[in-house]
Amino acid sequence: MALLRIISLCTALLLLSICASAQDGQGLISCLQQKGITNLTTSTSSSAYDSLLRFSLQNLRFTEPGVHKPYVLILPYKREQVVDSVGCCIKHGWQIVVRSGGHSYEGLSSTSDAPNFAIIDLINLDRVTVDMKSKTAWAEAGATLGHLYSAIGRKSADYGFPAGVCPTIGTGGHFSGGGMSLLSRKYGLAADNIIDAVLVDANGKLLDRKSMGEDLFWAIRGGGGGSWGVVIAWKVRLVRVPRKVTVFNVHRTGRNQVTDLVYRWQSIAPLVERDLFIRAVISGTQLQSGQKDVALTFNGMYLGPLDRLLKVANESFLEMGIVAGDCEEMSWLDSISSTSHTTTSQLLSRNNTNKGYFKAKSDFVTSPISPSGLEGAWKFLEEELSGYVIFAPLGGRMYEIPSSKTPFPHREGYLYNIQYQVTWKDTSKESGLVDWIRRFYRYMTPHVSKSPRGAYVNYIDLDLGTAVNGTASIAEARAWGDKYFGGNFDRLVKVKTKFDPNNVFRNSQSIPVNK
Ligand code: FDA
Repeated sequence: MALLRIISLCTALLLLSICASAQDGQGLISCLQQKGITNLTTSTSSSAYDSLLRFSLQNLRFTEPGVHKPYVLILPYKREQVVDSVGCCIKHGWQIVVRSGGHSYEGLSSTSDAPNFAIIDLINLDRVTVDMKSKTAWAEAGATLGHLYSAIGRKSADYGFPAGVCPTIGTGGHFSGGGMSLLSRKYGLAADNIIDAVLVDANGKLLDRKSMGEDLFWAIRGGGGGSWGVVIAWKVRLVRVPRKVTVFNVHRTGRNQVTDLVYRWQSIAPLVERDLFIRAVISGTQLQSGQKDVALTFNGMYLGPLDRLLKVANESFLEMGIVAGDCEEMSWLDSISSTSHTTTSQLLSRNNTNKGYFKAKSDFVTSPISPSGLEGAWKFLEEELSGYVIFAPLGGRMYEIPSSKTPFPHREGYLYNIQYQVTWKDTSKESGLVDWIRRFYRYMTPHVSKSPRGAYVNYIDLDLGTAVNGTASIAEARAWGDKYFGGNFDRLVKVKTKFDPNNVFRNSQSIPVNK
């Protein structure tokens, strides 16, 4: 439905938008017109421009009036139109910003610091075809995770795919940065399960794995979106899931209890059998007495039935105290809607009704944080109740994949990932809350991975450093590149230099060219 609306809305806008194109965008618009690209809207054309721009944008911070907006939003519905859109933008000197699901934490798919930029939004390229004979699927980059999961579920209850929880995330950006999920301990990242891709490169050429070669194919599977070209489609290997999985939520409150449990969890969750994924979500809370305290939810999934989960969990982590009432058996497809608080029928909707203003940061932990270190973290959470942390365990399959196999380097020896988030509705609170999360992050420095301090590119964080209009030197880009990619950063620079020497695809934290 949403797709139909977008196509018809854009078609209706076509004449308006072309007639009203601004003087300096005339060359670009004429070029697109000549190629028969009609699905576009410009900032000067119609009020629908704003709604189309906002539709996929998840972090409302980047919808604010002061944020730099694109001149034109191009919404191709055929692969050739992506090729032509890239060609026209390059020819007329327009910076290209690619958008698939619009979930970039820093709005990098919807805004840019380039003076003139155009968004190529793949929202209409959302087809998924599943082939149960080869146990593979082709997903266009504009398809959401919900599209992919539903398409697999329609074909088989025995297969799934290891990618993120939120169904509105785009496969385009998510797979480009890795893609962690509740299945990562069993099957690795989404990017670890990509076996082919179709990409429009910096010369405007349409390439597949064979024609792009193994270096570029390596870089696009985790080297971050926006640096390499426009991925149009991914071919993925499906993974086996049991007919019955068990989802659970175990809630605990109380500073001391939470410290003890999380301290123990750190040595169990990354090492327990890989069918069991237990993450810890921790926040501050206000008790009825008005006093502040700490609340913990262990939530996750077991790839098997309830009785087996209770046996495994109680043998390995008795202190968690999980009981049958904390758990629910369901199909893997239903577990997606359950963990993302939607319904299975909503998996195809791109309309995220939970959008908000937020700032996030990330870390990786390589040795358990001491009880006193954890207590210090709880103080931050008690100070700001709209903030929280998610500790997501690694281990299992993640430890077997060498750290240079894909650009995501946080493999053997990394116990878990931390995501810090703070959300707000009242925009006047932004600066205080952003300051809070930065102070919290500074506090965590001695407790997390070092040299480099790791970060996850899909939780992109411009606090780590930026370069105006993607023109960082290699030394400058290390500020974020080493954190996201560790020892893989240098190879990414080499690949970038070879395949995009003119730095066509760039953003505030893209991979730099070695000039
Ligand atoms: P978006 O369209 O914003 O793109 C992100 C980046 O990739 C931008 O730089 C963009 O230019 C580039 N890009 C997009 N499409 C491209 C294409 N086709 N070709 C080349 N470059 C492209 N992560 C995770 O690992 N596990 C999780 O469970 C979650 N959960 C989650 C929930 C929610 C609510 C949010 C907002 C985010 C997450 N994430 C996540 C983070 C998510 O993986 C990350 O934001 C991805 O980049 C989102 O991909 P989209 O296509 O939606 O983003």
